[in-house]
Amino acid sequence: MAGSENKYKSDGSLAGAALEWVDARFPATSLWKEHLSEYYAPKNFNFWYFFGSLALLVLVLQIVTGIFLVMHFKPDASLNASGVPVAFASVEYIMRDVPWGWLVRYMHSTGASAFFVVVYLHMFRGLLYGSYRKPRELIWIFGLLIFLCLMGEAFFGYLLPWGQMSFWGAQVIVNLFSAIPVIGPDLSIWLRGDFVVGDATLNRFFSFHVIAMPLVLLGLVAAHIIALHEVGSNNPDGVEIKKHKDSNGIPLDGIPFHPYYTVKDIVGVVVFLIVFSAIVFFMPEFGGYFLEYNNFVPADPLKTPPHIAPVWYFTPFYSILRAVTSDFVPFLWLFLALVGWLCVRPSRLPLIVKLGYLGFVGAMFILLGVPAVLASWVGIKLTSILFVGLEAKFWGVVAMGGSVVIIGALPWLDHSPVKSIRYKGSLYKAILTVFVVAFFILGYLGVLAPTPMRTLVSQICSLIYFAFFLLMPWYSKIDKCKPEPERVTG
Ligand code: HEM
Repeated sequence: MAGSENKYKSDGSLAGAALEWVDARFPATSLWKEHLSEYYAPKNFNFWYFFGSLALLVLVLQIVTGIFLVMHFKPDASLNASGVPVAFASVEYIMRDVPWGWLVRYMHSTGASAFFVVVYLHMFRGLLYGSYRKPRELIWIFGLLIFLCLMGEAFFGYLLPWGQMSFWGAQVIVNLFSAIPVIGPDLSIWLRGDFVVGDATLNRFFSFHVIAMPLVLLGLVAAHIIALHEVGSNNPDGVEIKKHKDSNGIPLDGIPFHPYYTVKDIVGVVVFLIVFSAIVFFMPEFGGYFLEYNNFVPADPLKTPPHIAPVWYFTPFYSILRAVTSDFVPFLWLFLALVGWLCVRPSRLPLIVKLGYLGFVGAMFILLGVPAVLASWVGIKLTSILFVGLEAKFWGVVAMGGSVVIIGALPWLDHSPVKSIRYKGSLYKAILTVFVVAFFILGYLGVLAPTPMRTLVSQICSLIYFAFFLLMPWYSKIDKCKPEPERVTG
């Protein structure tokens, strides 16, 4: 790679001489060629391929606007002379007194939601075209780690304005850790640095938000793209373009990323910026979804808001957490056991293991399922303590964590002979549709206060969510797929 053909030869101009000087000391030309002008991407990228570059754009936007916000923001929970928390007042100062402060703040708050919109669409593209399948498993894993980091980043950032929702949201989430057996209560005090969310919590969340998380995020994004450029991009047909190369070793269905996709991505950037600006200038609160109304009220540890809900991008997972009530725990166990059986039965595991598993499922059914059904018939409220020894809150946390982590298992759960949805059968298409609908319903219910009916719906949708992943090894095999083409279809 570092051969002489990758070194810049000056054309005699001053700029040319400068570039030659740099290139003799730093691999500028070879990096440019390897990652842009000679990185051959499939020629059939469509609209779904805008979201990777848009995620990069939003990342830069968040870092730049964040730098300017930090110049004026004060992470201090003490009260000022007017009795308002200093942190809250510093955000108001940015909004009212700092020149263009309102714009920078609204760009940052809208950017947080835009980041999740773009990343969710980027991940969904992966689902559509099987971009997580071999050899791109590591790109997917890095992606999932990015997603986890992004969730952490958003959570830490949300505490900073020190409004009612910041305070009580953090209180609810940190309290979840107290459900962990034995170490839980001490762990949540250690995380907060206090018995309740306070100044120590604000300071450490600030530190995580402005330095720790962004550093990790940048490192992971670099790893994500390096891994992508090692194996090459997938495409809407899900076929490998590296299988057919010309005499120079260039994929027949590939085109140089620069200038073709750099120019194409500009179209995505322009459309994105139009929508983004419309929101920033005309509806930055976005009906209370991007900036919640309760967060315009300073944090008050003595006044719990009647309804505490996280920001929209967390709500599908928050719904899963809330769906796990005491009576639901036995059903959840039973469901997992049955799904496990569907995976174990067709596997090549020894008969003794299969029989052992069947015995386990049977025992679960007798011990958990039957009493649960009987108890609900006679109207007794079951406590999960009776059945699995731990409170429902703990299993809720496990289910919520599991619902994110399970996304990382997709490369090993999908056994379909084809990658792209274009060649998958109607079974997969139907299941994917049901999954998407369930995900939206979970997201919607997570914003609302729970009622018995809403809890029941979120329990059904949570089971659908997990079934989508856990049953994939089974349904992806029996789905009737169309034959995949040898070359991309244009
Ligand atoms: C800060 C967040 C992220 C950034 C900046 C980012 C950036 C990118 C870029 C620039 C590409 C190449 C262009 C494209 O294929 O669209 C890409 C590809 C990819 N990303 Fe991400 N990404 C992010 C998050 C994620 C997440 C959360 C996942 C999944 C969990 C993911 C999975 C993938 C996969 C599988 C590919 C390869 C797609 C293919 O070859 O078809 N990414 N990413």
